[in-house]
Order: sequence, then C-alpha cells, then structure tokens
Amino acid sequence: MSEEILVETLPPVRHWPASDLTGADFDPVLAELMAEGPLTRIELPNGEGWAWLVTRMDDVRMVANDPRFSREAVMDRQVTRLAPHFIPSRGAVGFLDPPDHTRLRRSVAPAFTARGVERVREDARRMLDELVDELLRDGPPADLTAAALSPFPIAVICELMGVPAADRHGMHNWTQLILSSSHGASVSERAKEEMGAYFTGLIGARSGSTEEDVASLLGAAVGRGEITMEEAVGLAVLLQIGGEAVTNNSGQMFYILLTRPELAERLRAEPGIRPQAIDELLRYIPHRNAVGLSRIAMEDVEIAGTRIRAGDAVYVSYLAANRDPAVFRDPEEIDFDRGPNPHVAFGFGPHYCPGGQLARLESQLLVDALLDRIPGLRLAVPPGQVPFKKGALIRGPEALPVTW
Ligand code: HEM
Repeated sequence: MSEEILVETLPPVRHWPASDLTGADFDPVLAELMAEGPLTRIELPNGEGWAWLVTRMDDVRMVANDPRFSREAVMDRQVTRLAPHFIPSRGAVGFLDPPDHTRLRRSVAPAFTARGVERVREDARRMLDELVDELLRDGPPADLTAAALSPFPIAVICELMGVPAADRHGMHNWTQLILSSSHGASVSERAKEEMGAYFTGLIGARSGSTEEDVASLLGAAVGRGEITMEEAVGLAVLLQIGGEAVTNNSGQMFYILLTRPELAERLRAEPGIRPQAIDELLRYIPHRNAVGLSRIAMEDVEIAGTRIRAGDAVYVSYLAANRDPAVFRDPEEIDFDRGPNPHVAFGFGPHYCPGGQLARLESQLLVDALLDRIPGLRLAVPPGQVPFKKGALIRGPEALPVTW
C-alpha cells in the first residue's frame, strides 16, 4: 500500500475537550468515538499531537497486555493528554515495563491479593462502624463524603501501608495536594517530595520487619536488594495516593444507589448478591474523565485492520470496553444478575490496578454499613444539585448531601 493511500485511510483527529460531567453520565464524546469505529484518533487538551484510541474489549485487552506497547517510552514524550501537569518520576510503577515493572509489583503483591486484603477486613469494619456511629450521633443532614467515603479509604490504606493512625491526616493532605491541579505543579511536586521523605523514614525503619504491611514488605525487599529505596518510596507514594480512588468511585456508587432507590432496595433485601452487584456497579461507573496513561508502539502493529506505526501513542479506554455490546448484553443497563462479568474497571495486563481487591472489600463494607445501618438513607437535595468535581482526572461527587 502506498504512503498516500495509508494516510488517506487514517481516521480524522477528534478533539476531546475536558468536560465537567455530572452524576454517572457516560461521556458523550467517548460514546461518539466508540460509534465511529474500533480505532479513532484523539487530541486531548494538553501535551502535543494526537494519539490512537482503542475502545473495544478485545483490542483494549490486546494493547494493555502486549509487550510491543511500552509505558517506559511514554516518559520521554509529551503525548497528548488530559492531565495539565506531567511530571512522572522515572521508575514510577505506571511508567515501567517488564521485567522491572514485574520486580517492583512483586515486592508488594502479597498485601494486595484477595487473601492479603482480608488481613485488614476486621479493622476496616471497626473503623467504618465508628464513622457511622458518629454520623448517626450527629444526626441528619450530613455529607456522606466527608463523614465516611473520604475518611474510610484513607484509614484503610494507611492500615494496609503500615502508616500509624496519627499520621493519617498528613497523608490525606499530601494526597489532596498531589492529586489536585488547582494549586499548580510546584505545590504538587513539593507534596510528593514530602510524602516521599516520610516513606523513606517509615520503610527504612521497617527494613528488618517481618510484618505484612506494605512498608514492611518494601523494607524487606530493599533489604534483600530486590528493589532500591528510591523505587520502594515511589511505589509507596503511588499506592498511598491510589488508596483514595475509592472515595470517588464509591461516591459515584452511592450517587447511583441513592438516585435509583430500587437498586438500593434490592441490595438491602438480598445481601447475598452484593459482591456481584458491586462488580456490576464497578463495570458501569465512569471512574475517570477521558483516558489515563498512554502506551507507545515499539514496532508496527495491526489493530482492527489498521496499522499502528512504531512510535505512535495509543490509549485504551477501559470505560469504553466495559460498555462493549459484544461482551455485555444491554451494556447501558445496571444488571445485578449479570454473569459472567469480565469487566476491566481495574485495567488489564501487567499494569492492572493493584488495589482492585482492596477497593472491592471497601465497597462491600461501605454498602453493608450504610445500607444496613441507615435504612432511610436518601439524598438531601435533588440529584441535579449534588456537586461534582470540576477539572478532575478522576470523577466523583465533591459532597454527597444525605438525610435519613
Ligand atoms: C474503585 C477504585 C479503583 C479503580 C476503579 C482503579 C482503577 C485503576 C485502573 C483502571 C488502573 C490502570 C491500569 C492501567 O494502567 O492500564 C489503575 C492503576 C493503579 N491503581 Fe487503581 N483503581 C482503584 C483503586 C485503587 C486503590 C485502592 C489503590 C491503592 C492501593 C490503587 C492503586 C493503583 C496503582 C498504584 C496503579 C498503577 C499500577 C501499575 O501501573 O502497575 N488503585 N487503577
């Protein structure tokens, strides 16, 4: 095929603006891109040039799991992106390829398996019960985010990391500064350095520990020479920050349950379906705006009949794959009886989310505690008045005003 013909067949570059979506509305731009074809080209508000976008489940899984697509190569590029600041640390887990990526992830893997997270279940349940006790004591109305959805995941991730309770507040503040774009890049960078210095101390102090918390696992791995202290600290920071993803995700989850009371009623009446219902909600929830981190093709690869050239940037959309009609019947419906449910809300391939089991555990505890202990729980304002985060990478309500 001549160069001209290939160029002519390239799909147009679509501009994907940053939009402040509310509720659990599916991004209309993403819906259009999905309708346009399996492979489209996008230009996001920051960075340079264009990138491919892959939206169908099979193709998403292929790109996410194929070593011909590299994360490490993204480091040296200004790929078009949603995030205004792009200051990845060299060696950060999101920007490594195997075998370094595997080596790093292996050091903490035991803490994040289904069995590993069970270690914190009882403490987590107790901490949540205390928060709900306080909520009930203070009486309605309340902000569910401030009262439970924000403090609970912080307490749990700190517990799993081995961060003492006294330091939780500081962790939360650093996380907010790192994740927020409104304070500017230097403020985020400083907060990251401060959190890093904290973890350097904590991991160093645990180097001889045989405990199962993440700081101890990292300390032991550094001690055995498997990872460097710098790598350990970088990973600890990302795991600590990632821990708060549950606040946003469960914010959307409860927004859905409180605006669709028939769903909440079914969960109250049939506690046995909660684990699978939570997975269905995870499939459905549009966790983020636009797309996250791209990958770079290291050689020419054909996807859905189109040639991706070596050096091209490629994004996968896990949100789109979760609505692929070839995999999910009536993908726009929330169906608690859906099975099997092979969603990719936590990603796929080597970079799949290490926090998936933890997020499931926390979501289950939240659903149990809030639905069972507060039978009349409902929104205190009309759905359209629930404030949603603006200019954010991860979507979720700013506050969830409730009464009972
Ligand atoms: C419901 C909540 C959550 C959702 C929907 C979610 C989703 C995701 C997704 C889609 C990815 C990207 C996969 C890729 O790059 O291809 C990811 C990566 C990641 N997540 Fe989560 N996550 C959640 C909670 C958490 C929690 C609780 C933690 C911390 C324990 C966490 C830590 C991370 C880290 C460190 C990565 C980077 C992994 C890597 O690149 O190897 N996440 N997450």
